[in-house]
Amino acid sequence: MMRGGTLRMLIWVSSALYLICASLGFDPVDNFLIDCGSSTNQTVGDRVFVADESYSTVLSTPEKIFVNTNSNFSSSSIDLALYQTARIFNGVSRYTFPIRKQGRHWVRLYFSPFVQNSYNLSKAKFSVSAQTFTLLKDYQIEGGFLIKEYLLNITSSTLILTFTPSPNSFAFVNALEVILLPDELIPENARTIGLKKTDQSLSQLALQTHVRVNMGNETVSPQNDTLWRFWDSDYWYLKHNGLATFVSKKEAVKFSGSPTKYIAPSSVYGTATMLDTAKETRMIANLTWFFDVDPGFEYLVRFHFCDVISPHAQPVHVILKVFINDLSVSDSLDLTNLTSNVLGRPYFMDVIMRASDSPRMKVSVGSHSTDGGYVYPITFLNGLEIMKISNSRSSLDVSSTTSSKMKVGVIVGLAVGLFLVIVLAIVVFLLYRRRRQAHSIHSKSEDVMVNAVEGKDYNGTAMFSVSKIGYRFPLAAIQEATENFSENLLIGVGGFGKVYKGVLRDNTKVAVKRGAPQSKQGLVEFQTEIEMLSQFRHRHLVSLIGYCDEKDELIIIYEYMENGSLKNHLYESDLPCLSWRKRLEICIGAAKGLHYLHTSSEKTIIHRDVKSANILLDGNLMVKVADFGLSKNGPEIDQTHVSTAVKGSFGYLDPEYLTRQQLTEKSDVYSFGVVMFEVLCGRPVIDPSLSREEVSLVEWAMKRLQNGKLEEIVDPRLAGQVKPDSLRKFGDIAAKCLAERGVDRPTVGDVLWNLESVLQLEGNDGRSDHASPVNHLETSTVSTAELSMASLGDIAGVSMSKVFAQMVREDMR
Ligand SMILES: *[C@@H]1O[C@H](CO)[C@@H](O)[C@H](O)[C@H]1NC(C)=O
Ligand SMILES: *[C@@H]1O[C@H](CO)[C@@H](O)[C@H](O)[C@H]1NC(C)=O
Ligand SMILES: *[C@@H]1O[C@H](CO)[C@@H](O)[C@H](O)[C@H]1NC(C)=O
Ligand SMILES: *[C@@H]1O[C@H](CO)[C@@H](O)[C@H](O)[C@H]1NC(C)=O
Ligand SMILES: *[C@@H]1O[C@H](CO)[C@@H](O)[C@H](O)[C@H]1NC(C)=O
Ligand SMILES: *[C@@H]1O[C@H](CO)[C@@H](O)[C@H](O)[C@H]1NC(C)=O
Ligand SMILES: *[C@@H]1O[C@H](CO)[C@@H](O)[C@H](O)[C@H]1NC(C)=O
Ligand SMILES: *[C@@H]1O[C@H](CO)[C@@H](O)[C@H](O)[C@H]1NC(C)=O
Repeated sequence: MMRGGTLRMLIWVSSALYLICASLGFDPVDNFLIDCGSSTNQTVGDRVFVADESYSTVLSTPEKIFVNTNSNFSSSSIDLALYQTARIFNGVSRYTFPIRKQGRHWVRLYFSPFVQNSYNLSKAKFSVSAQTFTLLKDYQIEGGFLIKEYLLNITSSTLILTFTPSPNSFAFVNALEVILLPDELIPENARTIGLKKTDQSLSQLALQTHVRVNMGNETVSPQNDTLWRFWDSDYWYLKHNGLATFVSKKEAVKFSGSPTKYIAPSSVYGTATMLDTAKETRMIANLTWFFDVDPGFEYLVRFHFCDVISPHAQPVHVILKVFINDLSVSDSLDLTNLTSNVLGRPYFMDVIMRASDSPRMKVSVGSHSTDGGYVYPITFLNGLEIMKISNSRSSLDVSSTTSSKMKVGVIVGLAVGLFLVIVLAIVVFLLYRRRRQAHSIHSKSEDVMVNAVEGKDYNGTAMFSVSKIGYRFPLAAIQEATENFSENLLIGVGGFGKVYKGVLRDNTKVAVKRGAPQSKQGLVEFQTEIEMLSQFRHRHLVSLIGYCDEKDELIIIYEYMENGSLKNHLYESDLPCLSWRKRLEICIGAAKGLHYLHTSSEKTIIHRDVKSANILLDGNLMVKVADFGLSKNGPEIDQTHVSTAVKGSFGYLDPEYLTRQQLTEKSDVYSFGVVMFEVLCGRPVIDPSLSREEVSLVEWAMKRLQNGKLEEIVDPRLAGQVKPDSLRKFGDIAAKCLAERGVDRPTVGDVLWNLESVLQLEGNDGRSDHASPVNHLETSTVSTAELSMASLGDIAGVSMSKVFAQMVREDMR
């Protein structure tokens, strides 16, 4: 690791373009910067490393030996100039720095071995100690450019730094720094994990910076750091699983009070590595980094967080899970609360733990998102520091861990390794088998669908081909119907593309869903949706009128649903209020549509995106379920679930599906239960503007239901309309749909039957009510009605940033 680090440092140094930076404002009281072996001062960024001679009074050494490389580093970069000279110590040598202010000090040692005259610095072998701490023991530097950074709390008036050559060898150093740091840098409040509480406080121990990483794939140079620290890019440590993406928004960082910019600069807090929510809508994967560590030591691990990601218009709750070596550091790190609801406010967390016997430390961050509630399911990290803590022998050197333990370690390591290889082989074999099975299931289902679509002439070799289905429209006809995709006719925008209102030549009104060009995600969903729609004809399912795949266009044409989505009628619009009876009828209609999907064919079809925005109303307020882009064939007879990547809309997702990725038709039942509460309460599923306990409709409603106070949350506009009996029954059905485990939920058929009986409880009154809002609705021509066929940006009814909008749907791979 160290060598890798050095190499990267070199790459960085030689490729960096330095601007002479304005000082970032820190002016340490104790500030010794020495360009060892040099007789001239060396300027590095905004600091001057003073010629070695100037510090001759603080050093006691048997002999003054300066060496100089022949290579001219100054031509490549200013910073390497420090490595051009070195001081040699041929006997025990001691720096005694006068300390003006007690507290944490950095001791930074610069090393780069070169060959000069009779000295081959690669052959140097030596120990270094500071006060009573061993920093290096019989250490040999193989090559490259190395900075060793130590942190000590100096409680006396001098800091004594001793270089001791090993027998028959010598010591050297190219440059060194001793700097007083702000007191706040290492607070005493670190949590310990899996360790017995020791009586020694951290302030009495020495620390060594093991690795310091800036997330977001960017290196931060010492010139851009408030304390001249080097932050390596996390690129080298990140587990590259294709799910990570990088964010840089330095201007969004807002320092106020603690932590200060000395903890980490905005170039660290302002960049993050985050789970790519477009690719990982499951919201449950982890981001993982691996670091080499020295087994046997304890480490102080510092996590830096700063939410520069959430859309500022919509602060939502961010709760993270943090792990080290698979141990939970925090199960629910409520960042929003910890930063007092201020977006862009930094936060850091210190954890002390012992490295396991493995020389690798695994750090993972995930989102605490499975409660389907008010949590903003993003996962990110801004920075990470791993500091080694001096051991019981006051040493930071690896050689101070016993060698017999090392041998045992090797043997255990070998055994574990062999075991892992075997396990891996078994896993690979099983995966391979499963994949083959999954593959054969998949192609079988494809056959069925293509057959259904194309009729009997299917020859068994063609893959899905849209062009063979009927209803194909020429592009020109669609252009005519939509006035060449006029923005005036736009009625919705979603993940797939835009939805326009159109009028065909025979005066049929249609909804035209036009896929965004070259959207691969679109293509698969386009095909799925056409497959599904052409298979089914049902009063309560939106029907397909045609499609177009001319040129690069992917267009689906549906019947036009004059009255838009159920959601629009429930809240956030000035449409007239739907009566309780009408709401029940709509629920029943939607349940019938779903019931048909689940039961009409040999294979269950799971809708996967049941939500109020996908329940549409035509001119007669007839209900139709729409948006089959995510639908999937249900489990085979002998299986109980389909294992698949989680897709669907945030707030409606079945928790069981979310955690176990097992899809059954009961996932639709869960989402339907959410819709039922939406219908009852007339509010969005997630409303971040409400108080914390009310943010999630499901949590809030379930709590009220359990307390027997459901009537308190009924849509106020329904006052007096809902009979207590029917309310109780309706609430009970919805609650059953929301059962934690799929097996405990009713089928849509049961739900349907129960809803019918609720409607009966309501009796016939209200039907003849002329002032009923239903009639208002029926007479009003809602020309602006939004047909949100693919209203994907409307999770929780708020228009979230692109990031969040994409989160709900991922491309179907
Ligand atoms: C180097 O800088 C120090 C302090 O800034 C100054 O006292 C000294 O004269 C300088 N030495 C040389 C050789 O320029
Ligand atoms: C090193 O290179 C720089 C720039 O090319 C030059 O100004 C300087 O005199 C050189 N130094 C030595 C010691 O050759
Ligand atoms: C310097 O020492 C290193 C390590 O012992 C050795 O590999 C290298 O060849 C030596 N270089 C010279 C020029 O002697
Ligand atoms: C340094 O140690 C002293 C004595 O243990 C303690 O009072 C002080 O707070 C420590 N300073 C820091 C910055 O940790
Ligand atoms: C991340 O950094 C690496 C190494 O510097 C670079 O090769 C890669 O292109 C960067 N990736 C992105 C997405 O910026
Ligand atoms: C360092 O700062 C300079 C100027 O302020 C800027 O151009 C550069 O991008 C910064 N580099 C990093 C890694 O932040
Ligand atoms: C995230 O990491 C933790 C600890 O390593 C692990 O228990 C959990 O299963 C991981 N989650 C996922 C989705 O891989
Ligand atoms: C954070 O949570 C605590 C305890 O639940 C609460 O007292 C406090 O008000 C919360 N702070 C913010 C800013 O939400």
